Amino acid sequence: MALLSVEDLSIAFGGLAALSGVALEVNEGEIFALIGPNGAGKTTVFNVLTGLYRPTGGRITYAGEDLLRLAPHEIARRGVGRTFQNTEVFRQLTALENVLIGEHGQLRSSVWSAALGLPWVRREEAAARRRALGLLERFGLLDVAEVEAGNLPLGSQKRLEIARALGSEPRLLLLDEPAGGLNPTETRTLMELICALREGLKLTVMVVEHDMDLVMSISDRIAVLDYGRKIAEGKPREITADPAVIEAYLGRDAADA
Ligand SMILES: Nc1ncnc2c1ncn2[C@@H]1O[C@H](COP(=O)(O)OP(=O)(O)OP(=O)(O)O)[C@@H](O)[C@H]1O
Ligand SMILES: [Mg+2]
Repeated sequence: MALLSVEDLSIAFGGLAALSGVALEVNEGEIFALIGPNGAGKTTVFNVLTGLYRPTGGRITYAGEDLLRLAPHEIARRGVGRTFQNTEVFRQLTALENVLIGEHGQLRSSVWSAALGLPWVRREEAAARRRALGLLERFGLLDVAEVEAGNLPLGSQKRLEIARALGSEPRLLLLDEPAGGLNPTETRTLMELICALREGLKLTVMVVEHDMDLVMSISDRIAVLDYGRKIAEGKPREITADPAVIEAYLGRDAADA
């Protein structure tokens, strides 16, 4: 059964239909890419999936549950994690603190019990710290654990944002342009990381990305949006050969040539 099933999803802003009748099925353990030209509606799909936007129509089932009945924090608690298109690390906090914040939703301790310094809280926090350091290590960021996130190069900030999203132990991870602004070396590191996450943590990953080398090499399946509609879906090889996709990206002349 699919982990995520989206049916007939529509949303409009003013007069503009940002998504029209979009259907998607993402299977457990899959790396599923969502691609399409600027303004196609990719980020909007993520915003609906995380409960930030309410669609005008459609159904979404996640892990057997009606996702549209849930508030954003409930969706996060059920294991939907994400990163944002514009890197959003807490710039004044250290890399370690950024990951600890990502974990916080999972901790039982409240601010009050933490302030009281109860022993079980201290144990929980020590465990959280160990886990956060483990995540930083996995992402090649252990050396910079105590560096303010704003002072890290973009490639490291992007990896840190993924590490933070993993702090909440998601089952479905949504990555919005993880390679945006990265150089080829940083992109390759990221590519390997995403694949390793799927292998090691058995994560299901949805990725929005303009870097076609990355998309084609890591995705099991790809859906293509154009003007809010799904115009194609398939394995990487099928997508690159699809005339509708070529036309959406390059324009009719190029498709005819
Ligand atoms: N909150 C909003 N208010 C008004 N219009 C919006 C809002 N969010 C998205 N849109 C519009 O919906 C359309 C789809 O936007 P979206 O951000 O999903 O595109 P995208 O595929 O992620 O594009 P890009 O590749 O440039 O990030 C665009 O026309 C955008 O202007
Ligand atoms: Mg976007």
